Amino acid sequence: MSARLNDSCLLIGFPDYREAAQRLARAAGIPYADALIHHFPDGETRLQLPESLPEYVVLCRTLDHPNSRLVELVLAAATARDLGVKHITLVAPYLCYMRQDKAFHPGEAVSQRIVGTLLSQWIDALITVDSHLHRVHQLKDAVPVDPAINLSATTVMSAFLGEQLDNPFLVGPDEESEQWVAAIARDSDFDYCVARKQRFGDQQVRVSLPKADYRNRHIVLVDDVASTGHTLEAAMLALAYFQPASISVLVTHALFVGDAQERLHRAGVSNIWSTDAIPHSSNALHLDHLLADALDGCRKSSM
Ligand code: R5P
Repeated sequence: MSARLNDSCLLIGFPDYREAAQRLARAAGIPYADALIHHFPDGETRLQLPESLPEYVVLCRTLDHPNSRLVELVLAAATARDLGVKHITLVAPYLCYMRQDKAFHPGEAVSQRIVGTLLSQWIDALITVDSHLHRVHQLKDAVPVDPAINLSATTVMSAFLGEQLDNPFLVGPDEESEQWVAAIARDSDFDYCVARKQRFGDQQVRVSLPKADYRNRHIVLVDDVASTGHTLEAAMLALAYFQPASISVLVTHALFVGDAQERLHRAGVSNIWSTDAIPHSSNALHLDHLLADALDGCRKSSM
């Protein structure tokens, strides 16, 4: 990265994602500053940016706990514009509201399109990781900015798994996970298969496994996101019947709400691994270099 690019750019992070944002700034060779956040007793936020900003700013904020963080992101982007910033790249390793990509019932908000449009009003470019794109295939169709880059953690995951387990057998818990499971398996020549999931509600999930020889294998369940953990738990319970040597879990986005992790431990999970797209005790894989490479390309094309 040339000195000119470094000097004319600043990466701004938020307290709840500071460590990963600072790692990214170091990997990308960009100076770092905090957005100062104060939460008032009534739930509102006061946000303050450095008063002197370069024309090119990277906002690094992952978007779990989306409702309050989206508002704070808009406060930050609007303030940056007021301070003269010409170009804002958002690095949001976890991009919220991507699963509601249609109205499943009459009158339902199509949150993906609504939140995507909101973001596009404030940012110029977007970098995210393993965004949940199902019926809408291109990130730019969900968040209309250019570029809208949807990276995948699969290369980082396959290198990681190769160091952890001897000849693992990857299982995707539902059809949508096939893209990630297949990519990791292809990279490292691992066996894989994909199960079928039926969801009856937030907490009710049934997973049916395809016929395969799971016995005595080191199984790794791979998914983009673990939210309530019911998808992974149902897959684990189905797999346990076949007496594998171990069952581990590897996800990009570790939401793990409520007692999700405890339930997986009760079901006998050997390892729970995740990337640092969302800060969590299971984080074992860093995405800084993956994100820094994308950011580098993105900045060179827009400066
Ligand atoms: C949905 O298709 C996703 O890929 C995940 O499988 C899902 O979001 C996991 O949700 P939960 O952990 O609540 O079962």
